[in-house]
Amino acid sequence: VKPAETDVSILPVNHSSGICNVVTGTDIFHHIPRLLSENNLEGSACIVSDHTVAQLYEPAIQTCLANANIVTLPSFVFRPGEKSKSFSTLKRLLSHMIKTGMSRNDFVVALGGGVTGDLAGFAASIYMRGISYIQVPTTLLAQADSSIGGKTGINCPQGKNLIGAFHAPRLAICDLKTLDTLPLNHIKNGLAEIIKMAVIGDPECFIFLEKYAGLITHPEHRDKLEYALKASCQLKCQIVQKDEKETGIRTWLNLGHSFAHAIECSVGYGKLLHGEAVALGMLAAGQLAVKLSICNPIDVERIRSLLILVGLPVRLPKMDIQTVSKCMMLDKKNRFGKLRLVLPEQIGTVTIIDNVSVNLIETSLHKLI
Ligand SMILES: NC(=O)c1ccc[n+]([C@@H]2O[C@H](COP(=O)([O-])OP(=O)(O)OC[C@H]3O[C@@H](n4cnc5c(N)ncnc54)[C@H](O)[C@@H]3O)[C@@H](O)[C@H]2O)c1
Ligand SMILES: [Zn+2]
Repeated sequence: VKPAETDVSILPVNHSSGICNVVTGTDIFHHIPRLLSENNLEGSACIVSDHTVAQLYEPAIQTCLANANIVTLPSFVFRPGEKSKSFSTLKRLLSHMIKTGMSRNDFVVALGGGVTGDLAGFAASIYMRGISYIQVPTTLLAQADSSIGGKTGINCPQGKNLIGAFHAPRLAICDLKTLDTLPLNHIKNGLAEIIKMAVIGDPECFIFLEKYAGLITHPEHRDKLEYALKASCQLKCQIVQKDEKETGIRTWLNLGHSFAHAIECSVGYGKLLHGEAVALGMLAAGQLAVKLSICNPIDVERIRSLLILVGLPVRLPKMDIQTVSKCMMLDKKNRFGKLRLVLPEQIGTVTIIDNVSVNLIETSLHKLI
């Protein structure tokens, strides 16, 4: 007897390289063998994971692969953390792939958070000029954001994500059951991106989030989180499908991110979680939009209240505002001389503004003290 199919939702995303099916649900690993065969993933598989995630979920994934009659090559397991998204880990991973004799028909299984997905996806993109990979994201951030859209890459000393490639996975399997072991601060980390998506283009999801803000991070209310995650994935998929290479509307996904990167950089990377910086960045963008009379202050208040209710920060940590604005201007130089900001117009629509003055940026940040 086939298990009930209603517990998974499958969202096909059209990439220039083919379709990626984004599968979401709770406790859905038992679907993996069927999903692999339906998506013609047949060769041998190499699991890539960090130590923490490998210990928790690698055996279950091994079983799924065995049930799909797929040979598992020795896994590549690395030290958890952003530092591993590096040239040196990439080099070790590629050597491992060569040593295990991976061929063009084989595929990589990126099992873990965004670090694993970005690293393993990038390795898959350049190994033998590109082989298939699938994502099994185990953080909320990876499920809502990094496993969808095909951006892969590593960091360099000069900056984050400077080296990378667009290489879409064939399959992304987002199982909310894996969030049971994820620390609360990482749930909030991913929730910041889900809130961001709602502000960008899903006013109904925003209302849903407002309604359940007090419960949504609790493990006993996973159904609420599942609803919000599915809505968020759906919107991200739509946007990516319309603008895979980020020449147009995919820029919207950067709402709050110019501020966020500058805040992260000013307090020192690792002091704030990315989602916390995104929460602050979104609010700063909101304040700026109010200053420019693009957005009603009531909408920014709604964003602020929602962030407070889910336990994300709305005030800047002790830091020098000028350092943040300088970082943003420096970032602008890196991006062809234009400071391009995505600003909310109302809950559910955003707009793009070029060449905002340093003065306005600092005034907006001052509102977050
Ligand atoms: N490619 C993209 O489009 C994109 C988008 C957003 C972010 N990113 C990248 O994603 C990265 C951040 O991702 P992240 O926050 O998932 O970080 P991460 O991969 O480092 O995971 C965070 C921590 O959680 C642990 N962990 C993961 N799953 C767990 C689980 N189920 N239970 C217990 N512990 C678990 C990990 O071991 C790690 O210590 C950044 O490098 C960022 O640049 C990429
Ligand atoms: Zn982000």
